Amino acid sequence: MREWWKDGVIYQIYPRSFQDTTGTGVGDLKGIESRLDYLERLGIDAIWISPIFPSPMKDAGYDVSDYTGIDPTFGTLEDFESLTAAAHARGMKVLLDFVPSHTSDQHPWFQEARASKDSPKRDWYVWRDPGPDGGPPTNWISEFAGPAWTLDEATGQYYLHIFLTEQPSLNWRNPELRAAMYDVMRVWFDRGVDGFRVDAVENMAPDPEAGDNPPNPEWVESMGPARSHLGTNTKHLPVIFEIAREMRAVAEEYDPPRLLVGEAYGEIPQVMKYYGDALDAFQQPFNFLLIEAPWEAETLAGLIADYEAALPEGAWPNWVLGNHDRARIASRVGPAQARNAMLMLLTLRGTPTIYQGDELGMENVAIPPDRVQDPWEKNVPGQGLGRDPVRTPIAWEEAPFGGFSTVEPWLPMDLGAARIVARQEEDEASMLAFTRALLALRKETPALTRGSLEEVRAEGAVLRYTRRLGETRLEVALNTGTTPAEIDLAGALLVSTHPGAEAGGPLRPGEGRVTRAG
Ligand code: BGC
Repeated sequence: MREWWKDGVIYQIYPRSFQDTTGTGVGDLKGIESRLDYLERLGIDAIWISPIFPSPMKDAGYDVSDYTGIDPTFGTLEDFESLTAAAHARGMKVLLDFVPSHTSDQHPWFQEARASKDSPKRDWYVWRDPGPDGGPPTNWISEFAGPAWTLDEATGQYYLHIFLTEQPSLNWRNPELRAAMYDVMRVWFDRGVDGFRVDAVENMAPDPEAGDNPPNPEWVESMGPARSHLGTNTKHLPVIFEIAREMRAVAEEYDPPRLLVGEAYGEIPQVMKYYGDALDAFQQPFNFLLIEAPWEAETLAGLIADYEAALPEGAWPNWVLGNHDRARIASRVGPAQARNAMLMLLTLRGTPTIYQGDELGMENVAIPPDRVQDPWEKNVPGQGLGRDPVRTPIAWEEAPFGGFSTVEPWLPMDLGAARIVARQEEDEASMLAFTRALLALRKETPALTRGSLEEVRAEGAVLRYTRRLGETRLEVALNTGTTPAEIDLAGALLVSTHPGAEAGGPLRPGEGRVTRAG
């Protein structure tokens, strides 16, 4: 049987910013449940919810202190069960975020590990004696700036944290730790969760024995401190692929097998390794090519072709335009190209993931210094590394705080009329209406889900490709440029970024069309 996720569309919910029902200024699980109608009407097939587990929230929930509970900010386990049942009743799958590379320093495992050098859990984390000069054991730099090692005064050893000091790295070379984490996966699968997005997998197994990382010859300051060195001894190490295969084996204990979507940023060949040599690791290693690519037809055509060519035999592709860590697509490519970006996401071959709010054309929101939440921004202020601008709440209605909350939300929000869901609902020409139309077209057009991808090319500023299934041939053309483009586009118009457009005639700047040519 064909797996649901091959034809499905995943929608990422950033729960802190979706819908607050408890007057805390932070979204919650009941809020998500109350908006399932919206998601059903949108036409997505699965929701992936960023972390909802108990957490001191030093990194917005990516610092987990109990892998199997629910943080009171978001509600209770009953709320989660209710949400899952309600989503399933609508035919929607539920994916959670699994954060295996590190815990919170408040996790009982770490508390136990740091209690003494002889603790049975000591080796569940990565400890080393100080280097020869008494400083950190290696020159590794935390993703959020500063050394990746912190001295534990009481025991005289350093512990590793690829992210914050409060996010100690787990030691996946320890078999007991592995078993405990696989049990965590089973707890959620037994509760009916359909899969996980697996966080920061490339950082799961740094090798302190291999020593310092070499400097990055291409580094410029705007890349942030962590990129000043290469990840030679910290990222994508071979043992990770073995772990990914073991995680997959856990997912395969269930019927149907649960979905694992791995988050690994890397070059194309590196990312492909996460499928596993026998397609026995992650079913979907995230493809982040479009999240950084310059918005330029020639480059996009090249990236799409390179990715398709690199896919192992039988591997299923996927595409992502944005997430809670990266600039909003509408800000990155400009509002005039936001529809084209959505058109591309939903017509390329493979499983798309939509980041909440991108269906509304949400843009980065400027955050005043006194409202900053992201620890990265706090550590390296003013360099544009902070992620708060892309995490702001959704404005649902023309109401105080956009109907998101009854109190000032945890982050400032864009209350501009154009962004408000209720306004877009009433407007047939809105970004929301366009996204819905695309999702509906995808659903009723097997060539868009199952068809081949052919003739990917740039014609000047126009990106073009063909989707073909049996006799059906769809032509996709999108003008990434700022001037009208004459193109030869055959067939009947199925959808356009511009309401009222016709199949023929030049493509306006930012205009994209899908036609049925056969
Ligand atoms: C998540 C980030 C998080 C980091 C540490 C990532 O890749 O997406 O939001 O800060 O992992 O868990």
